[in-house]
Amino acid sequence: MKTNIIDATKINEAAICIKKGGLVVFPTETVYGLGADAFNDDAIDGIYIAKSRPQDNPLIVHISSMEQLNKLVKNISDDAKVLMDKFWPGPLTIIFEKSDLVSDKITAGLSTVAVRFPSNKIAQELISLSQTPIAAPSANLSGSPSPTKAEDVIDDLNGRVDYIIKDSQCEVGLESTVLDMSDNNCVILRPGAITLEMIKEYVGYVSLDKGLISADIVPKCPGLKYTHYSPKADVIVVQGTKENIKNYINSKLNSELDIGVLTYKGGTYKDAKLVLDAGDNMHDYAYNLFSHLRTFDKHNIKTIYVEFSLEDGMGLAVRNRLYKSAGHMIIEV
Ligand code: TXA
Ligand code: MG
Repeated sequence: MKTNIIDATKINEAAICIKKGGLVVFPTETVYGLGADAFNDDAIDGIYIAKSRPQDNPLIVHISSMEQLNKLVKNISDDAKVLMDKFWPGPLTIIFEKSDLVSDKITAGLSTVAVRFPSNKIAQELISLSQTPIAAPSANLSGSPSPTKAEDVIDDLNGRVDYIIKDSQCEVGLESTVLDMSDNNCVILRPGAITLEMIKEYVGYVSLDKGLISADIVPKCPGLKYTHYSPKADVIVVQGTKENIKNYINSKLNSELDIGVLTYKGGTYKDAKLVLDAGDNMHDYAYNLFSHLRTFDKHNIKTIYVEFSLEDGMGLAVRNRLYKSAGHMIIEV
């Protein structure tokens, strides 16, 4: 299939494509999304095919108005209303009991539906012009890191979708927080930029899904059970004090080998083939992580050692994605 790569000035064409059942990649504040009309089952099938995504992994439905929400869900709790008021539009996905209008193809047979109101203006405009909610997973091939730059989307999906709308690098860099509020719950299934601490200010009983805390429990968010976000290189997370991390990684380096290092708050490794820095705080780390993992692959790096130490807030989301990309190869030093 021919993919039309456009910028936002041609967004009308992309909206017409959505209405006709086509596939459009669009920017959001978290990562790029691969969208289709949420009320068109054939178009939804197309998403799974384009990404090679397992059928048992449900999709998030993106909206640009509260009227659209009312069509998709059955009950909205008072606490959910407070959180929507505070954090929408933005990087928070909320899971509700689904209405009868929502197809099993979106929810993978679950009785709940995940809904998100993105803050990115191009995303909002695409949904409004298409006059329908848009179902959209991250716009990567299944298993690889979510794309945060237009060029990453083009690498993965050129020839597999009808349109790609280019924009600048996504400002958050990690996927939205997924919060289950169906069944009078308030459980974080996937950590993101709207953090546990931020939600706790408004809903005191919020908790973390046990699958996020223990490696032995299957996560409730179906997508999190797959090895995910992985570059082609092996990822090894090294955590502890800065000095111990440096000593450990240096002991593994050999200038003959294709080894890369992802540093945090800077640092040099003279025997590494490629050193990239994740930045100075966890927001930088989130912004850079997926794009740097892809850069290591482009340089044919075979093993990436990653400096990490846990911090509150956004640190939880960064750790979650790092551990997934490392397939749980984590060294404590
Ligand atoms: O930031 C984001 O959320 C991006 C942008 C494009 O909006 N989207 C995204 O979608 O990350 P995706 O499909 O890559 O991840 C959605 C996650 C998956 O882990 C999926 O299992 C989970 O949300 N999910 C979707 N519906 C669910 C439901 N009803 N119950 C539990 N988990 C659900
Ligand atoms: Mg994804």
